[in-house]
Amino acid sequence: MTDHIQYSPEHDALILLDQRYLPTREEWFVCKNVKDVCEALVVMVVRGAPAIGVTAAYGCYLAAREVQHAAPAVDSWRETLSAKLEEIATARPTAVNLRWAVKLMRGVWERRPDIDLEGLCKIWLEKAKQVHAEDLATCRAIGASGAGLIADGDTVLTHCNAGALATAGYGTALAPIRAAVEQGKHVSVIADETRPFLQGARLTAYELHRDGIPVKVACDNACALLMQRGLVQKVIVGADRIAANGDAANKIGTFGVAILAHEFGVPFYVAAPVSTIDPETADGSLIPIEERPAREVTHVGTTQITPDGVDVFNFAFDVTPARLISGIITEKGVLTAPYTEAIAKLFK
Ligand code: MRU
Repeated sequence: MTDHIQYSPEHDALILLDQRYLPTREEWFVCKNVKDVCEALVVMVVRGAPAIGVTAAYGCYLAAREVQHAAPAVDSWRETLSAKLEEIATARPTAVNLRWAVKLMRGVWERRPDIDLEGLCKIWLEKAKQVHAEDLATCRAIGASGAGLIADGDTVLTHCNAGALATAGYGTALAPIRAAVEQGKHVSVIADETRPFLQGARLTAYELHRDGIPVKVACDNACALLMQRGLVQKVIVGADRIAANGDAANKIGTFGVAILAHEFGVPFYVAAPVSTIDPETADGSLIPIEERPAREVTHVGTTQITPDGVDVFNFAFDVTPARLISGIITEKGVLTAPYTEAIAKLFK
């Protein structure tokens, strides 16, 4: 699946498959300006660290177009555009790919200080398309790096959705699984349902089922029993940000899965592109954890499931300490402990 993020030249817009309505409805969300892009990011029309990075890259282009249409001749366009880029970069706090993509686009701009808006629009659209295409290639390389970790007959448990829908296509955590299947191995997947947004039940199950890879959905709280019964041979999850020491932020509940994997001796892998590693964040305690609206927890769809007036927690991510991670699968190979050294070497 690679058509869920599309730039339409005809509409000069970014068209996104609206992930809020999957798997029952395939609806499209059109982004023509920064307000649309930020809404798509905040309400999670598009989600998953690499996918929001790709969206942010197109968002920068749309920001430049918007400024050009509003006041092409005004001298202060640089400040106006800069403020819009910051809006995109801060739409969600945890996944580093959002900031990474905006920084990359800013770098292209900074190398051409005298460029006018029309010129900037041109080079940014090309750059966004490049970020988009490279993400797909990176995911395939993650698959190639990690496929050898999966044995014929394995059942792999994953948490949240780090598949095609969370990237430009192919996925991060699901990439080694897809690659192992392409090598002819028999692999099945357990998708944790992943309350409250249900990325596992709705999205991971949707894309794997659609692609003919056997998948079963489990309630989040079934993980210990499944491992105790020997039904899980490997865990592979994605990441939203990996600190310089290998601590990895991923969807809330991932840390619990890692503790259980350690208890039952199940290898626990994190799969992510190098762009998700943030060498500027020393360790996991410094990763900002997004808190999302209470309504995601108090309601399932339109049905209220908690009493009126009762408060809830809705932390969107947790951080798995590096010591619980058996390997970090990247497009440049599989990193192993000690991660501080392995990551420093990668960025040298
Ligand atoms: O809140 P989301 O859906 O954007 O969070 C995404 C995740 O946490 C995914 O599990 C993921 O591993 C990172 S994206 C490949």
